[in-house]
Amino acid sequence: MLAPILAPSLLASDHANLAAGARLAAELGLEWLHVDIMDGHFVPNLTFGPQTVAALRKHSALFFDVHLMLDQPDQFVELFARAGASQISIHVEPTYDHAATLRRIRALGCRCGLVLNPGTPAAAAEPFLADVDLVLAMTVQPGFGGQSFRRDVLPKITQLARWRAEHGLGFRLEVDGGVDLVTGPECRAAGADTFVIGTAFFGAKDPAVVARAVAGW
Ligand code: DX5
Ligand code: ZN
Repeated sequence: MLAPILAPSLLASDHANLAAGARLAAELGLEWLHVDIMDGHFVPNLTFGPQTVAALRKHSALFFDVHLMLDQPDQFVELFARAGASQISIHVEPTYDHAATLRRIRALGCRCGLVLNPGTPAAAAEPFLADVDLVLAMTVQPGFGGQSFRRDVLPKITQLARWRAEHGLGFRLEVDGGVDLVTGPECRAAGADTFVIGTAFFGAKDPAVVARAVAGW
């Protein structure tokens, strides 16, 4: 089993001081930072764009795990790669050339991930599993932090983990949405190894407790 990685979600941090959120993660010895990009179309919310990511890159050497919630992610991967993304994850649901976009992300020097909404079956990711560095199973409908974890997604995580083992693949299996110290271990038991945590990290009395807990999962 891959060692657990905690990716704190910047969405839940102070947006007037994003660099401080990144600094907190680094000070706790974490390596990843989850960066949510929303376009107001694929999801009913807006966050920030490549200019913000580029500005943040000047303040942080963390691994930027960029989650694109966009109708046309293929049009934006280059901008986010240039802005300093380490990994770019794209949703399977919109219509565009997924395989070509995943290849493009790698050609731009980033790792690539594929994201599934809670209602999207594992089968939608199956054709791409050999060509991705990460599969992200959303455990809430994307768009907002602070939502309740969807336990009905757990069987899909188990399925993805099974396929990974059966085919000897090495992609990371990430969960995002409502993950905390109760629901995270349930995801871990199902086969997840990468945990996006927003509210339960930045909203914690002591985020160091969360970082230590995840390291022991
Ligand atoms: C939701 C985003 C998540 C969000 C998770 O659309 O993709 O990354 O920040 O936030 P919490 O952990 O609060 O559910
Ligand atoms: Zn996310």
